[in-house]
Amino acid sequence: MRNARPETGGFFQRQRNWHPPAFAPGYKSTVVRSPQRAPVSFGNTLSEITGPVFGRAMLGELDNDLTLNYAKPGQSAIGPRIVVYGQVLDERARPVPNVLVEFWQANAGGRYRHKKDGYLAPLDPNFGGCGRTITDEDGNYSFLTIQPGAYPWPNGINDWRPAHIHFAIFGHGFVQRLITQMYFEGDPMIWQCPIVRTIPDKRAIETLIAVLDMEATVPMDARAYKFDIVLRGRRSTMFENKLEGN
Ligand SMILES: [Fe+2]
Repeated sequence: MRNARPETGGFFQRQRNWHPPAFAPGYKSTVVRSPQRAPVSFGNTLSEITGPVFGRAMLGELDNDLTLNYAKPGQSAIGPRIVVYGQVLDERARPVPNVLVEFWQANAGGRYRHKKDGYLAPLDPNFGGCGRTITDEDGNYSFLTIQPGAYPWPNGINDWRPAHIHFAIFGHGFVQRLITQMYFEGDPMIWQCPIVRTIPDKRAIETLIAVLDMEATVPMDARAYKFDIVLRGRRSTMFENKLEGN
């Protein structure tokens, strides 16, 4: 008998002691959002498992440059310039090539370009706040952006989101879209955040904190933050999707 782990197929079970519970009253929206009944299990169909497939041809030249992708010619977004980069890995630390990585964030003042965002911080006319890229053959991704600001949100009397970037990672099927958030090393706001506090294990929170990487910093241009994304298993990044996989 070979001394190897058994294959479990294309999908792995979610680790429920690593991910936050669906119902976490400190994060008020979960009270109405969390399922009131037991989830119903059903098999995947071929279209959910095999599609969509994203190709490099669909990417625009500036899709992974948020400093320029919404800016007027000759201008750029305002804020501290940063490179965010890392590797998408599977549960056995193997690189995952050709996955679509999408990211969105507030501007340097902490304001989203969204009609429902009423925060006082001004919009930046040269910043849209979203982009995308596809991992290379070694699972690497990177993008240039500006460091987002913290912002207040209506949860408790005085709750603030730490500076963060939202990520979606699309696999080879609709049932493989995973969503998470990245935080910045050294930010004291991380530990105040009611959303972060729904995560039961401090080590799971630490998987969401990108580290400042001076080695990858571009001199006189941009600092670099490294954020690896592990899709499943013991070292999995904490994903925020609902338990039923939406
Ligand atoms: Fe956000």
